[in-house]
Amino acid sequence: MTSTERDEETKEEQKAGPSARETGRRRFLKVGLTAGLVLVVVGIAGVARSLISPPNPPQAQEAAAPQTTTVTVTVGGSGGNSTAGASTASTSTSSSPFPRLMVANLSDVSTTTPVYFNYPLQEAPNILVKLGVAAPGGVGPDNDIVAFSQVCQHLGCIYGFVPEGGAPACDSSYKAPGPEGYCCCHGSIYDLAKAGAVVGGPAPRPVPQVTLEFDSSSGNIYAVGMGPPTIFGHDTGSSDVLNDLQGGTLVS
Ligand code: FES
Repeated sequence: MTSTERDEETKEEQKAGPSARETGRRRFLKVGLTAGLVLVVVGIAGVARSLISPPNPPQAQEAAAPQTTTVTVTVGGSGGNSTAGASTASTSTSSSPFPRLMVANLSDVSTTTPVYFNYPLQEAPNILVKLGVAAPGGVGPDNDIVAFSQVCQHLGCIYGFVPEGGAPACDSSYKAPGPEGYCCCHGSIYDLAKAGAVVGGPAPRPVPQVTLEFDSSSGNIYAVGMGPPTIFGHDTGSSDVLNDLQGGTLVS
């Protein structure tokens, strides 16, 4: 209804007298009450909707949060350790504490001519020999080149190499049945074709064997590690040779 129409209606009511004006007032109040009731209903509906469906549901917030699992593992020469901490990275590394040392060339060795070298510590003597027959841990074209600690496992003397059929300096009557290490201090004998096993005398255990690698393209022979039992004189009480490297000076 336009203002002009309302004015016309008012004039008509004035002309019509008091009863017509009363009817207009009642119509006006009715419209106002209806509009107010609609507003109240709309407001109540809005409140109910917010209670049923909150604007930021907890499930959505949890899904958006970052999920991280943190594990850092490091393994070194003096023993492994592991930590679980704040890092988001997951890494795993390992390395050998043994140096890689070129000790001879294929042309340097024969069944009668050993090569002597210190490994893995500067003060730890070893002997490399060509046996003439394949042996455990042997390298080279015939898998017959092996190396061992030259320190006797009895009381630490340095034993000598005796080729098959040969005799040690301290006993000319002895004839070696195969390539051996012979300790003249107390007569311990090691079979170099059988992983340094004790075959005579008071030695309580085999001599540690050096792990070798052979480069067929160059003929070079490398020392890359050493097996148990221990490096004599560096026994920490563990059967793990790696522990026995502590306190010594590595070759380089
Ligand atoms: S130290 Fe070698 S046999 Fe005793």
